[in-house]
Amino acid sequence: MKIIGTGSALPEKVVTNEMLAGFLDTSDEWITTRTGIHTRRLLSTEKLRDLAFKAAKAALESSGLRPEDIDYLICSNVANSYVSPSLGSIVLGQLGCCCPTFDMNGACAGLVYSLDVADAFLKSKDVNNILIVAAEEPSRFCSWHDRATCVLFGDGASALVVTKGEGFVDFRVTGKTHTDVMYYKRAMEPTPFDRVEEKTMPLVMEGREVFRLAVEASMEDVDVLLERNGMTGAEIDMFLLHQANKRIIECIREHLGQPKEKFPTNIQNYGNTSSASIGILMDELSRAGKLKDGATLMLSAFGGGFVTGAAILKWSEIQYN
Ligand code: ACO
Repeated sequence: MKIIGTGSALPEKVVTNEMLAGFLDTSDEWITTRTGIHTRRLLSTEKLRDLAFKAAKAALESSGLRPEDIDYLICSNVANSYVSPSLGSIVLGQLGCCCPTFDMNGACAGLVYSLDVADAFLKSKDVNNILIVAAEEPSRFCSWHDRATCVLFGDGASALVVTKGEGFVDFRVTGKTHTDVMYYKRAMEPTPFDRVEEKTMPLVMEGREVFRLAVEASMEDVDVLLERNGMTGAEIDMFLLHQANKRIIECIREHLGQPKEKFPTNIQNYGNTSSASIGILMDELSRAGKLKDGATLMLSAFGGGFVTGAAILKWSEIQYN
């Protein structure tokens, strides 16, 4: 499998740390030093489906394919206002594609999980081109009274078009049950047979524990992939890591002993956009000409569950008009 198109889309509304300090007991200094985040983009007038569509359309255009060339659409999403139909079904119609689609919830590792599934589909099914869309609105599942969570996230979407080719070298996806350290719970409809009243519970997160799990798991994924492929960190040209916290990225960088330039970030501008984050970073770097033909990339992400996904790939330059 190889990537032949990228796209991303962000909400127009820019929210600074100072703006948050206007209604929360927090400060620019606290947020910046603990997370590296300066601003985030939050949905206000647009809808998530608009972002998903914009990112998907840009990815499709850059791939040179037409909507009818897409054989499968995989949409990575943790939560949006529709449980059914899937976000993928909605984006499908907006794009004018006519192919199977489903949403997958691989939490913040959802894009890497989607790539892993797409790779398997390309090998095992009669499909040639797959569109992957990762669209997330974590701002809608945080409590805006909880300073420990809402300052961390931003909304956004990214998309990739993949086809058969020699790009991906190896994947590692993992899962472990740690459901108590991070969860968002939605109330289901009551029934005459189960009268226990449910309440929606905005995101609950034990920040320190998630930090520890994230660093540990991401290091393990990267180490296993390098060892399994007889490589060292020095042979990776760029590490595109999930943008959750600059300090998490820094811990992984120090563990690998690699220079800062190999760890590009955009968390300072967008916060944690969940599964969309690696795709947004990839799209920005690719469009800026910073991903060179033949460059070896390592992707690594982690998220609620606790799940992780990592991959090594060789980049093929994409021409954008
Ligand atoms: N502003 C000011 N003070 C705050 C804020 C805030 N926004 N949030 C928490 N505090 C306070 C706490 O109340 C606490 O105060 P206390 O000492 O009086 O009790 C103090 O700051 C320290 O809190 P900690 O939680 O210990 O701070 P920590 O250094 O661990 O940083 C953070 C918190 C940024 C959340 C960090 O733990 C982290 O990044 N964890 C990982 C989070 C993450 O990546 N989540 C997503 C992963 S998966 C996915 O992407 C969905």
